Amino acid sequence: MQVPFLNLAAQYASLKEELLPVVEQTLAGAHYILGPNVTALEQEIAAYTDTTFGIGVNSGSDALTLALRALDIQAGDEIITTPFTYIAPAESIHQMGARIVFADVDPKTFTIDPKEIARKLSPKTKALLPVHLFGQASPLDEILKLAVLHKLEVVEDCAQAIGAKYNGRSVGSFGRMGCFSFYPTKNLGANGDGGMIVTRDEGLAKKLKMLRVHGIERRYFHDLHGYNSRLDELQAAILRVKLKRLDGWNNRRAEIAARYTAAFKGLPLELPVTQAGSTHVFHVYAVLSDRRDALQQFLADKGIPTLIYYPRPLHLQKVYEDLGYREGDFPVAEALSRRILPLPMYPELSDEQVEYVAATIRRFHG
Ligand SMILES: Cc1ncc(COP(=O)(O)O)c(C=O)c1O
Repeated sequence: MQVPFLNLAAQYASLKEELLPVVEQTLAGAHYILGPNVTALEQEIAAYTDTTFGIGVNSGSDALTLALRALDIQAGDEIITTPFTYIAPAESIHQMGARIVFADVDPKTFTIDPKEIARKLSPKTKALLPVHLFGQASPLDEILKLAVLHKLEVVEDCAQAIGAKYNGRSVGSFGRMGCFSFYPTKNLGANGDGGMIVTRDEGLAKKLKMLRVHGIERRYFHDLHGYNSRLDELQAAILRVKLKRLDGWNNRRAEIAARYTAAFKGLPLELPVTQAGSTHVFHVYAVLSDRRDALQQFLADKGIPTLIYYPRPLHLQKVYEDLGYREGDFPVAEALSRRILPLPMYPELSDEQVEYVAATIRRFHG
């Protein structure tokens, strides 16, 4: 049996009949930039995430960059984030000319550890940028407590966690802004790039809407240093179809996760942990193994290719050499990079495929 690591063609096949007429209507409607589907999706995502305003932008990376710009982050400011994630949040800090300050992660949930944040605070710290990694929230209670105590802004990176809740409320509704990605492999993925910022703050929403169109409120009158970063109308139309399926897809992910977890009981693996008060939307289901590379090879030989993320924590990336971090600075993130193995996880996996992955992993362990 073959189990692809991802299967976006399967998602398309399941939606084709619904998507094609919507694409046709959008093309015929000829309102290609910031049209009715972008406005409608912004309202739908704001409602879905327990916020008030949605601002559609070109990508999740741009969502982070515009969010920091909207907070007037300046050169010399420090922003604390995690070294164990995709590079986009760190890049957005760098783009402000601000300093990226990493804080190590929790060994069970892989999200930023508030005790480590506390150790990294300085008079220059302006904001915290937690990433809700692999589909579950960072420990927001403790993060918000630190933010209140030290008068810091919080921007949530929700790229991997749309649909996840924390104490009954959606991620993205806790900080000043929440940033989502609609990259095709995300739980809610477009058929191209896309992203959105959500907020409850009307002033910020207005500013973000200006930032995404060259700093204008009125055409050809520029009040802010802006960007060209708009969510594409065609992608918005497609995303509105997919949003209706999102909860069902996330439930299927949770079901697959439960099957994996049950099958791996007793094996020398560390399994995903969902923190109390959280729901996990399993963007990624990853195990930790002391024999990770051998296990990965065994799976590949049996038709189950996998992809390691993240193989090198951000503080050890060449691009951040100038920050002066060294191996050993973030031992938890470094150990995760050596031991982590993400397994196939998407709603279109069949029960037979899930069972085959589970059985193959049991076989590896004898
Ligand atoms: C945690 C995280 N933040 C930000 C991004 C950036 O999103 P995008 O690819 O839409 O720019 C991604 C993924 O791509 C991500 O995984």
